[in-house]
Amino acid sequence: MPSSSKAYKAMLELVDETGTGAIIDLGSGWGNLIIPLAKHRPQRPVIGYELSWLPWLISTALKKALHLENLTLYRANFLQVKLPTASVLICYLYPEAMVKIATKLQQDQPDINFLISNNFALPASKPDKTIALNDFYKSPIYLYNIRGIK
Ligand SMILES: C[S@@+](CC[C@H](N)C(=O)[O-])C[C@H]1O[C@@H](n2cnc3c(N)ncnc32)[C@H](O)[C@@H]1O
Repeated sequence: MPSSSKAYKAMLELVDETGTGAIIDLGSGWGNLIIPLAKHRPQRPVIGYELSWLPWLISTALKKALHLENLTLYRANFLQVKLPTASVLICYLYPEAMVKIATKLQQDQPDINFLISNNFALPASKPDKTIALNDFYKSPIYLYNIRGIK
């Protein structure tokens, strides 16, 4: 399920607080978040990792059709790659994935400053900022300074 438009706007706001470096979407899906992100932030490198073949193929076709030179889409398990230097990780996953991401951040020590998560918190970490969406569940969007939790 892709991020909602309210979540997308809130995540974009937070992304703009993370400097000027690369943005990595952990599980980029059909491209609902990463394609507009790459389009509206052409000065920043944007990288997506997606496990499922069909969403990756469709998002890759969209990237080509829109000539998004700043966007790189890998069909890969983000847990099994060495993450490149970046300003921020963004994700919309599920609780167990957040546990695995926390372990990966501690073990791999990537050169990345921030993590923004739609709805699911990192275990045992205090967010630097939380936005409650104006929806029925007041869904949270979390911003973490992950240099502080490693
Ligand atoms: C809920 S969707 C979010 C899509 C997009 N990031 C958004 O916010 O609209 C989560 C995506 O993460 C992908 N995913 C889950 N675990 C993954 C992993 N370990 N490596 C790569 N992709 C993964 C799923 O296949 C799915 O497409």
